[in-house]
Amino acid sequence: MEERIGQLGTEARGRIEGAADAEALKTIERELLGKQGVLAEVLASIPGLEPAERPLVGRLANELKCELLGSLAARREALDQERLATDRACDDFDPTLPARRAVRGSLHPITRVRRKVEDVFTSMGYSILEGPQVELDYYNFQALNIPADHPAREMQDTFYCTGGGNLVMRTHTSPVQVRTMERAEPPYRVVSVGRVFRKEEQDATHDHTFHQVEGLVVGEDVTAGHLIGTLRALLARLFGRELDTRLRPGYFPFVEPGFELDVRCPFCEDGCRVCSRTTWIEFCGLGMVHPRVFAASDVDAERYTGFAFGFGLDRLTMMLLGIDDVRHFMAGDLRFLEQF
Ligand code: PHE
Repeated sequence: MEERIGQLGTEARGRIEGAADAEALKTIERELLGKQGVLAEVLASIPGLEPAERPLVGRLANELKCELLGSLAARREALDQERLATDRACDDFDPTLPARRAVRGSLHPITRVRRKVEDVFTSMGYSILEGPQVELDYYNFQALNIPADHPAREMQDTFYCTGGGNLVMRTHTSPVQVRTMERAEPPYRVVSVGRVFRKEEQDATHDHTFHQVEGLVVGEDVTAGHLIGTLRALLARLFGRELDTRLRPGYFPFVEPGFELDVRCPFCEDGCRVCSRTTWIEFCGLGMVHPRVFAASDVDAERYTGFAFGFGLDRLTMMLLGIDDVRHFMAGDLRFLEQF
């Protein structure tokens, strides 16, 4: 057996030395040291040997294995060096070329403005919450005082999911209001930013997928004054100066009274493209939480009052970053995204 091991060694050394490339070396390694390799065979035969012979054969086999591992590694290194030397000898090898740079992505413009908005609200003591994008009909509509036959559903036509349950792609972030009120006793001060979906014809200002910011504050003695002050403070922080606002009555089934807040166009004095020549920009839906919404979540409407607001993040991002078409946001075109 010792003789056989010696012979194996000589053979193996020759083969390793003669390997022409990394591929060939791999095959040789497998045949020598692999699970079905020749060395494994030798080791497997040990139990059948004379007891006196076993330790010696075991030792020799292991020594050979270590040696071969060493020469395999050395040969691999030598082959690598050879290949490099050949490459360098070629005419088109230019060692002065800079290394290829790793491509770094950048934050999506919506994400940047989202973070800005969240920072402002966190500084005012709000918590940031997330809600599901695929929502139960109950949270998206019913608990918000929009029963199945309510005309408000018409304005928020969406994608209904087939299969089990009454699931819809949420049409607004307002379901987060209900999920919040259901979970805990007031007071709370929360903001939720996320994707919403509607069945819209796409054009420069409408997309089927867009983003909203929802706010909800409930507590004792929360008033509409707090609501308007909060939104004005937000606008001032975002645009770096105080902007005029105006309040119009607005209808949303889950608030009473309900309003719409317009902001004076930050880009012009007497009308421009952004404000459609009106000098006002519709910014936000808002109002005081409707008693029916409180009731649906078992919040005591005698004791607490609250306000809610919701605005689109896409249009705000367009205004803050000077973008002229919402469709850019979802197009995934790097020429657009790399500019931010
Ligand atoms: N969810 C409303 C919409 O998408 C906006 C809104 C939110 C209005 C909160 C009032 C209060 O149109």
